[in-house]
Amino acid sequence: MADDSAATTDDAFAARLNRLDTTMFDAIPAELTPWDRRSLLACQQVVRRRWSPYRYLEIGSHLGGSLQPHVLDPRCAMAHSIDPRPARQPDARGHRFGYPGNSTDRMLANLAAAGGQTDRIRCYEETSASLDPSTIAPKPHLCFVDGEHTDAAVLADFAFCQRVIAPGGLVVFHDAHIIYNGLDAIVASLDRAGAAYSACHLPDTLFAIELGGGTLLEETAVAQVRRESYRGYLLSLRATDHYRRFANRWLFRAFRKAKARFSRG
Ligand SMILES: C[S@@+](CC[C@H](N)C(=O)[O-])C[C@H]1O[C@@H](n2cnc3c(N)ncnc32)[C@H](O)[C@@H]1O
Repeated sequence: MADDSAATTDDAFAARLNRLDTTMFDAIPAELTPWDRRSLLACQQVVRRRWSPYRYLEIGSHLGGSLQPHVLDPRCAMAHSIDPRPARQPDARGHRFGYPGNSTDRMLANLAAAGGQTDRIRCYEETSASLDPSTIAPKPHLCFVDGEHTDAAVLADFAFCQRVIAPGGLVVFHDAHIIYNGLDAIVASLDRAGAAYSACHLPDTLFAIELGGGTLLEETAVAQVRRESYRGYLLSLRATDHYRRFANRWLFRAFRKAKARFSRG
């Protein structure tokens, strides 16, 4: 009888995941666009089909918004959350972003209220650079990187994921349009090392790296969100349009014109 009800819960959850039901993110606010949510659910779907149970690791959890579909998932055996909980954090866009009241206790309370199995969550209030990789055992299969949005932090976070992830695992980065220089350095380092990997953009702002020679990123669930990649491409370009508008102010245009005239002369 108990087995029957577990199977029903598992089937019901799988059905929601198969239709990329973004209401799974509704209980806790998350800084994710609707297409980010679909893409993350597609990644969860292919990972839990490949490894069951699977383990999840997240760098940067804030209120628990991106953790919620994993702590609700009957096939997620463990979820690691790495977040040093700073009051403010630097960012590649040049501002510092504040996170008032940022705490692990608040996140756990949110996840418990959302019906999540919080006993499966391991929290580390430090950065990936200070955390001992041997603490993360057994190895996770899916890593989501959404901590400090600077190139240096993203490189450190990816290096950590590489050390702790199970062979063939998937690393997904959020806000690729902000941390693109870090991602470029990561791709270059994988190429230099001759590592087997595949990578792609997922709408709207995600960048996925599958380590090893697997085909998770080719599977139907991911393929269907990849087809919508153009949406994320446009959103990402438009997100930086204010820099172009700034560079096209009359003063800069006049300066460029004068410079061109001067070099011709
Ligand atoms: C954008 S929020 C994460 C949002 C969350 N992933 C979601 O979608 O609901 C960024 C989080 O990164 C955390 N953070 C800041 N610096 C960090 C670092 N160096 N390593 C890991 N997390 C960090 C902050 O405390 C904050 O909770």
